[in-house]
Amino acid sequence: MSGGSGGSSPPSERISSSSLSDLKDLEISSESGCLSIVVLGASGDLAKKKTFPALFNLFQQGFLQAGEVHIFGYARSNISDDGLRERIRGYLKGASEEPLSQFLQLIKYVSGSYDSGEGFELLNKTISENETSKDSRRLFYLALPPSVYPSVCKMIRSYCMTPSSHGGWTRVIVEKPFGKDLDSAEELSTQLGELFSEEQLYRIDHYLGKELVQNLLVLRFANRLFLPLWNRDNIDNVQIVFREDFGTDGRGGYFDQYGIIRDIIQNHLLQVFCLVAMEKPVSLSPEHIRDEKVKVLQSVTSIKHDEVVLGQYDGYKDDPTVPNESNTPTFASVVLRVHNERWEGVPFILKAGKALGSKKAEIRVQFKDAPGDIFKCKKQGRNEFVIRLQPLESMYMKLTVKKPGLEMATEQSELDLSYGQRYQDTKIPEAYERLILDTIRGDQQHFVRRDELKAAWEIFTPLLHDIDAGKLKALPYEPGSRGPPEADELSKRMGYMQTLGYVWVPPTLAK
Ligand code: BG6
Repeated sequence: MSGGSGGSSPPSERISSSSLSDLKDLEISSESGCLSIVVLGASGDLAKKKTFPALFNLFQQGFLQAGEVHIFGYARSNISDDGLRERIRGYLKGASEEPLSQFLQLIKYVSGSYDSGEGFELLNKTISENETSKDSRRLFYLALPPSVYPSVCKMIRSYCMTPSSHGGWTRVIVEKPFGKDLDSAEELSTQLGELFSEEQLYRIDHYLGKELVQNLLVLRFANRLFLPLWNRDNIDNVQIVFREDFGTDGRGGYFDQYGIIRDIIQNHLLQVFCLVAMEKPVSLSPEHIRDEKVKVLQSVTSIKHDEVVLGQYDGYKDDPTVPNESNTPTFASVVLRVHNERWEGVPFILKAGKALGSKKAEIRVQFKDAPGDIFKCKKQGRNEFVIRLQPLESMYMKLTVKKPGLEMATEQSELDLSYGQRYQDTKIPEAYERLILDTIRGDQQHFVRRDELKAAWEIFTPLLHDIDAGKLKALPYEPGSRGPPEADELSKRMGYMQTLGYVWVPPTLAK
């Protein structure tokens, strides 16, 4: 960790250049052949805001070469190739004209419904006409609501598979929500499982594509410093926090069906939890890593009602698509407890909220007090290791140090690794960019396996059913606040000690 001084040598000299993929046991297939990427739901929000921009970034970095790659948009709207290209162009603002128009030229549009053979036959015909080699690779990205997954997957299976006799592959990317509870998720998994093998299915959780989430395993298992500390003997409590400073913004109708636990906690925060709490995997192979994630999920005990705080921001129900009597939480703080040797007794507080006063996602690992404290450190605050996932990616360790000067006084300071300062010349890729590339390479490490999904739903389903039945009430909170004050009280009750008077200032802003 840098003390923030920056040092004199350029970052590239100071950073080991070995990449994770060099270290992996896993064989990343150097697959070649014609690659067709099909975005289903091409005119929807997800496709325009995330999928196509990610594809464009990959194109710009040379991962998708014209001639080898064709991109197809598929949706119900009756538009032309140029019609789709113009819609996408609006989301790639600021890009230089030349690469942008080269990229847009790779895109073709096919219109059809999601449940009739005709459209998919036409899609298959269009893909085949553009394929230049026999060992074709076909990647289907379902930027669609899960209600149509079964029928779309059936259509792909019936009409659009890569001809198996020629090598190549067919892979399908699906997005959450995967069901609404354990039973519906299992039903969906069974339906998809009858059509595609687990190796062909890529369940995206885009938090797994974030830089600092991907760093968690390295941090935990490649640093001697952390190995002996990462347990119940030293750690008092862990918080995994997601805050957004805007509300449901026109998505109220969708959101009201799900709520913040299904939207953020059961997937994004739980994935982060797995990486913080799991045991060391046997190797970096995707199956070994996912085996450990499943194990830690299975060690989570039932959530207690008195360790949950729900909130709903004032004004949420003003959205005409939200029912007046809605009890759907837009904020939740939920304590998870892990029944194993490493974590018994350590609360993991998973907290997420919309329409709060700030926008950030971070992990806070708070250590226990120093025993036999002769400096009265306890009054000032505890050691806390903070991993800021976004914005301004960074990690910092809060420490008690001697206050510089003649007096023997202590104060809170930090060891700070702020990416904006330390990796000035490195552009951090977007989560979707990485995950699409992983899919093309056949690397499932950062995707959710079926048993992992099941274990995740097993944790939250009883609580969600109780909320749906009105057994827990969402407390009102002011938009722009920290959420209901009861959530801070819960964190305090779980042992979290806020460091009063200490504010971490990101070095890039401190100048
Ligand atoms: C999505 C949720 O999965 O994640 C949204 O459905 C949320 O409600 C979004 O806004 C947050 O993603 P990010 O990458 O901006 O933190």
